[in-house]
Formats: sequence, C-alpha cells, structure tokens
Amino acid sequence: MNKDNINTVAHRYLANYLKSEFTAVDATCGNGNDTLFLAKRCKKVIGFDIQSQAIENTKKRCSGFNNIELHQISHAQMKEVIHKQVDCVIFNFGYLPKADPSIITQPESSLTAVKAAWDLLKKDGILVLCCYVGHPGGQEETDVLLQWINDIHAHEELAYRQDRPSSPILKILKKTP
Ligand SMILES: C[S@@+](CC[C@H](N)C(=O)[O-])C[C@H]1O[C@@H](n2cnc3c(N)ncnc32)[C@H](O)[C@@H]1O
Repeated sequence: MNKDNINTVAHRYLANYLKSEFTAVDATCGNGNDTLFLAKRCKKVIGFDIQSQAIENTKKRCSGFNNIELHQISHAQMKEVIHKQVDCVIFNFGYLPKADPSIITQPESSLTAVKAAWDLLKKDGILVLCCYVGHPGGQEETDVLLQWINDIHAHEELAYRQDRPSSPILKILKKTP
C-alpha cells in the first residue's frame, strides 16, 4: 500500500538529485515548504506565487536564507524574470491551505507555466508536478497536465499516487534530449 504523501516522495527524490551549485524554481511558493527545502540544498531558488500572503509566509518560513528571490506574479510569466536555464522546477498546484480557496491554480495558466518551465530546464533537468484532484477544478487541471506529459513523450523518472481515487498524483519528469 502506498502510504507516503506525494510531497514526502517528491522531497525524497529531490534530496538525491539536487546539488549545491543548482538553480531551482518553486513555481507555487504557498507556505514556503518547498522553497525552504530547495534553499537548503541549492545555490539559488526563484519562487513565484500570486498572493501576497504566500509570499509573506514564504519569507518568514525561509528567514535566514539569502539565496531566495521571490516574485509575486503568475508562474505563467516566469520567463519574464528568469533569463537563464535552471536545474529543477517544482509545482504544487491548488490553493494555499487555510487561505482563500478561490485563489487557485487554473488549467490554462498552469499549462502555460509548465511549458515555460520545460523550456527553461537544462538537459537532464527535473520537473516535479504535484497534482490534486479532490477540489473543484483539480481533476480538469490534472487532465490537462497529464495530456501535455503524454504529448511531449517526456521521460518519466517517477510517478506516484496513494491508493484512493481522490489521492493526489505526483509526476517527476526528466528533460532528456
Ligand atoms: C498548494 S499551494 C503551494 C504549497 C507550497 N508549495 C508549499 O510548500 O507550502 C498552491 C499555491 O499556488 C498559488 N498559485 C495559484 N495560482 C498561481 C499562479 N498562477 N502562479 C503562481 N502561484 C499560484 C496559490 O496562491 C498557492 O499559494
């Protein structure tokens, strides 16, 4: 039985992959858990979130780290501020826990953002997608992302899901040539 949650599994994978010279992107900062995880292991982290509460929560969670650059803009615009290639991008879709659930990732902008992230990744770079199906719109967003993965024939490093149909889905893709 698959018992670990997708974030635990994603972090376990990344802990082996990340290197101290890497640049990583957290495309959905939220409460800063992924940002902090990346900041402890990488040279630089570039983070995005559209809501000020998430940016503030991430700043607090990561206080003491000076290798983090945060942008309060949509991840769909990441190419406007990232002008070099990166080693890893993580998306944790959905809404900020215990905050306004109407501020939520949307299929169209999520797809635009994932495509931008894929363009920005170096060869052998890693894209982590944590997709949730249990909230309104979550299944639709997940279907769009799974279709994109299928269309680009991305190399799947890891796919993981707990046993229930409502369980979130983790996909880890490697950008092979
Ligand atoms: C599930 S939370 C992320 C959790 C976070 N990774 C953590 O470790 O705490 C999803 C976040 O996506 C943000 N979000 C929604 N739409 C977005 C967009 N278009 N661009 C960037 N962030 C967005 C929400 O504001 C929310 O904070």
